[in-house]
Amino acid sequence: MGKLQKKNAPIGVLDSGVGGLSVLKCLKEALPHEDFIYVGDTARTPYGPRSEGEVRIFVGEMLDFLAAKGVKLVVIACNTLTVLGTETLKGNREFGLVGMSKGERLVLEASRNKTIGVFATEFTINSGAHKAAILALAPTACVVPQACPKLVPLIEGEQFSGEELPAAISEYALPLKAAEADTLILSCTHYPFVK
Ligand code: DGL
Repeated sequence: MGKLQKKNAPIGVLDSGVGGLSVLKCLKEALPHEDFIYVGDTARTPYGPRSEGEVRIFVGEMLDFLAAKGVKLVVIACNTLTVLGTETLKGNREFGLVGMSKGERLVLEASRNKTIGVFATEFTINSGAHKAAILALAPTACVVPQACPKLVPLIEGEQFSGEELPAAISEYALPLKAAEADTLILSCTHYPFVK
């Protein structure tokens, strides 16, 4: 790819489903002159309850699809995929690859009592990545990780008006209330839709 061709190439954005659209919205605002190609694996979402092996195969397929489209960069708009490690996802593909920030600085600045809840998929919570990042900066902080497996299927199914969504959020908030967390980080790109 020539220099000019590369400059004009699109940026790929991917997620297990519609969640990454919340990231795409910010990217389009920040980079209005760029072209984007979005891939959401809505046929196989959610990734949260799946095994690492399975998820690695799926993301490899999406990256190969975007490579064939000639992207210059891929944004992994998914926390579940990001915790796998962007370097290992990239392999020897030619484009650059960036993932989601864990938000540890932001959340520590926002919290007064340094008691912080983390809402994410089971996969992300089991990785311990967000808790570790917060504790690396503030070893005495109290982190309350909470897997929220009911949220992504409800969001993907556009079940916004029923009773299930508020009931699930209330259930997941209970341990945070018990710990008196004053700040919650939404570590799944689907969750801003129900913020
Ligand atoms: N949007 C996702 C994330 O940021 C993954 C949701 C899922 O497929 O479980 O983690």
